[in-house]
Amino acid sequence: GTIPVITIDGPSASGKGTVAQIVARRLAYHYLDSGALYRLVALVAIRSNTDCANESAITNLALHLDVNFDGSSVRLNGEDVSDALRSEQCSKLASIIAGQSAVRAALLQRQRAFRQSPGLVTDGRDMGSAVFPDASLKIFLTASAEERARRRYKQLIEKGINANMQSILQDIYERDTRDSNRDISPLRQEVDAKLLDTTFLSIEDAVNEVLRLHNAVC
Ligand code: C5P
Repeated sequence: GTIPVITIDGPSASGKGTVAQIVARRLAYHYLDSGALYRLVALVAIRSNTDCANESAITNLALHLDVNFDGSSVRLNGEDVSDALRSEQCSKLASIIAGQSAVRAALLQRQRAFRQSPGLVTDGRDMGSAVFPDASLKIFLTASAEERARRRYKQLIEKGINANMQSILQDIYERDTRDSNRDISPLRQEVDAKLLDTTFLSIEDAVNEVLRLHNAVC
């Protein structure tokens, strides 16, 4: 049969990345953080001073990314850029270039290549809709904007990074709006996706719920 894929889509800071990684580990499946690809294109654009409005230039960067995912680190031309990808500048620019259809098309095959035996867990915005429409299990994982802002704030403070709750919340609203209202592959719950609202759920509870749903279909 086909190789199983669990897609976990949802808004920024919902915890989908954390949940997806743990589920992948429990099942010994491969893992793809699709947002990292958009962030990588953004990082290369920043470093090469490429105008983010120049869609064909950005698409060209996307087509020629030399990237390696090894465990929890992301390597660009051999350099570990895991931390650089998380910067506010990168987050913002990633969300802007993600609205360009040619950029999305350029990343499509690269994402599909992650579907390898024994299975894949992937998180993003359009994994269940555009990239893996035939996924074995589709999850729409979300939480209230306020709860997501609290989680992001806590994460930053724990890392020793200065953070402002109000600006984080503002940033989450802006990215939600941009990701949900764009013309191509907007963030939304697919009809065949299961809603998992984690506002009042721990990571462990969310992981167990995904595994339970997976066991029910596989
Ligand atoms: O998930 P993450 O916050 O790392 O993604 C960064 C940005 O990349 C998002 O704001 C979104 O605009 C874009 N993205 C996307 N489609 C995906 C994953 C991420 O458009 N599958």
